[in-house]
Amino acid sequence: MASGFAEAGIAGAPRSAASSPGLRVIATAGCADYALLDSGGGRKLERFGRFTIDRPESQALWRPALEPGAWLRADAAFKATSAEEDGEGGRWRTNAPVPETWPVRVREVTVLCRLTSFRHVGIFPEQLPHWEWMIAWLQGVPAPRVLNLFAYTGAASLLAVAAGAEVTHVEASRKAIAWAKQNQAVSRLDAAPIRWILDDARKFVAREVRRANRYHLILIDPPKFGRGPNGEEWDVFVHLPALLRDCAALLATQRAALVLTTYAIRASALAMDGLVRECLAGRTGATESGELAVIEQAGGRLLPTSLYTRWTSFDER
Ligand SMILES: C[S@@+](CC[C@H](N)C(=O)[O-])C[C@H]1O[C@@H](n2cnc3c(N)ncnc32)[C@H](O)[C@@H]1O
Repeated sequence: MASGFAEAGIAGAPRSAASSPGLRVIATAGCADYALLDSGGGRKLERFGRFTIDRPESQALWRPALEPGAWLRADAAFKATSAEEDGEGGRWRTNAPVPETWPVRVREVTVLCRLTSFRHVGIFPEQLPHWEWMIAWLQGVPAPRVLNLFAYTGAASLLAVAAGAEVTHVEASRKAIAWAKQNQAVSRLDAAPIRWILDDARKFVAREVRRANRYHLILIDPPKFGRGPNGEEWDVFVHLPALLRDCAALLATQRAALVLTTYAIRASALAMDGLVRECLAGRTGATESGELAVIEQAGGRLLPTSLYTRWTSFDER
């Protein structure tokens, strides 16, 4: 099943400096098992498989388009305990029996969703266009090796192995790795070549640099703050530059690409663009940056989710 996604350039305005990158918006309309039904009033109403979910969404500044009844009928709603923009604590209220896990199909793989205490459900559907892009890009690379950092429940890892890659999946949470392995089993990819690494992303990457290992594609999807399995600190503003420099050293000398996505941080796509360009300045390649968004069904509005930068070596463009 293909996700309908539109790539909308917002680079139409005249550039004031020759060197300024044209930022883009990459927006997805979801897929058969996922839709953003409505958004507004600081919340979003989504359908994941057979359940509708109402969750806080600080970017939804406009009014909802659907009548309140549509929201009240949601199978589950998350009430945050903190008014903080990205505070994750809170509680779920359910209107219907929601099982501990339920399947959501994304192209060739199945992700088991669950209502987590952090308001997330196990998948970030705005990543669909990146995944579609990755699958197409991998087709042109013989025996591709993919490094997935901050890999969570493994949707990208599973889609990459389904597309023929060998994947190294790095994640600090034992629970998230166990969840990703469940997703591997329900996706019937048990025999697929995934190296599961429970480690701090920075430590693992530094070790890989010392071992002179190489990857064709590196996916980096860090949170704003996090912890490695032994309490190692992750702060995107402090640690991202060094991590990216190490990732640049890990890229294959030919047919290489890197995709960075950042969430919930007070930063600009231009900042991410500038950092990736600096870290890959020694390589010939193309850099593209902007925002990921989801197209809402009710009003057609674009709900922004994250910033992204994609770099591809020139031999592949
Ligand atoms: C935004 S999620 C990634 C979403 C995922 N790429 C996807 O699309 O499904 C961030 C993940 O980073 C993990 N994490 C946080 N700090 C980490 C660290 N220091 N090293 C490795 N993983 C870390 C978290 O446990 C979480 O699973």
